[in-house]
Amino acid sequence: MKILLLGAGGLLGRYLTREFADHGLTALTRGEADITRGDRLDELFAPRWDAVINAAAICDFDACEKDPEGTRRVNRDAPLELARRCDAQGALFVQYTSDYVFAGDGGRLYTEEDAPRPLSVYGRHKADLEKLVPDLCPRSLLLRVSWVYGLGGKTFMSRLPDLLSAPGILHTAAGKKGCCLYAADGALWTRRLVEAGSTGLFNLVNSGETSWEEFARAALAEMISRGPAPGCTGIEEVPYTRFGPGWTKRPARSGLDPGRLAALFPPGPRPWREALGAYLGEWKSVAAPRTV
Ligand SMILES: NC(=O)c1ccc[n+]([C@@H]2O[C@H](COP(=O)([O-])OP(=O)(O)OC[C@H]3O[C@@H](n4cnc5c(N)ncnc54)[C@H](OP(=O)(O)O)[C@@H]3O)[C@@H](O)[C@H]2O)c1
Repeated sequence: MKILLLGAGGLLGRYLTREFADHGLTALTRGEADITRGDRLDELFAPRWDAVINAAAICDFDACEKDPEGTRRVNRDAPLELARRCDAQGALFVQYTSDYVFAGDGGRLYTEEDAPRPLSVYGRHKADLEKLVPDLCPRSLLLRVSWVYGLGGKTFMSRLPDLLSAPGILHTAAGKKGCCLYAADGALWTRRLVEAGSTGLFNLVNSGETSWEEFARAALAEMISRGPAPGCTGIEEVPYTRFGPGWTKRPARSGLDPGRLAALFPPGPRPWREALGAYLGEWKSVAAPRTV
């Protein structure tokens, strides 16, 4: 299989690069391929690909609110152009979307049948992709992910082992519930779906709903049990409004039901606690602060 991966330098992109290493992969970072540049896309689409995976995006929520037009070029317009070019070639197009397509007031986990109602610029651009990509490229795979974490990531959950290693109290945002995804599992399930030739929209998260506080407590307990004891002496929830003005536009409860994926590949993605354990194992082997 000939696969082109864009956004290879990002969190998910790095795990995808590893997962697809034996798949004839061409993995390009932002420096090597800016997805908003039409002349670069002309070069990239001169050869024919079996699949094109777009992991490039601007995930900075506040940057999207401040610059809707600029971020729209990366998060909406460029993926739509990639979808058109994939369709012209007959390639499978893989695009990631987000739980932020929802308002977060549903009171239960969202399925693929639920209608998006985004509150934010970032969410609106993702909702547009969910609506428009299947028309432009029927051979497309839309993977709706949420709270992605992994080694070297900038997200709260990615940085958690380092944050918990530091002495003091860790503050987490209260009042948010959702589902998370270990980037290694995101890459693994992307590969399974690509290999199976699946198309359509799939919620792709580790199973089970959690909160930032519960996730942080589980990580702390796991780190203590593995030793040596981390520096964190307690976890406290603070109202999310203290984390900045943009927080009210983030859905309060945006958990995703990965049932469609589980029906296709039983039993589906592993539970979040199991995935967190795997991440802490990876972090400890690679990134944990060393004591001499
Ligand atoms: N992280 C999450 O919690 C989360 C949640 C829901 C959905 N998602 C979605 O999952 C996908 C992967 O996200 P991620 O977590 O891996 O994010 P990430 O770590 O921020 O990676 C995104 C990558 O895209 C690159 N990029 C930005 N603009 C680009 C452009 N014009 N051309 C080419 N590359 C560009 C970035 O480069 P620079 O770093 O140099 O800017 C970065 O390497 C995205 O579609 C994202 O929206 C992520």
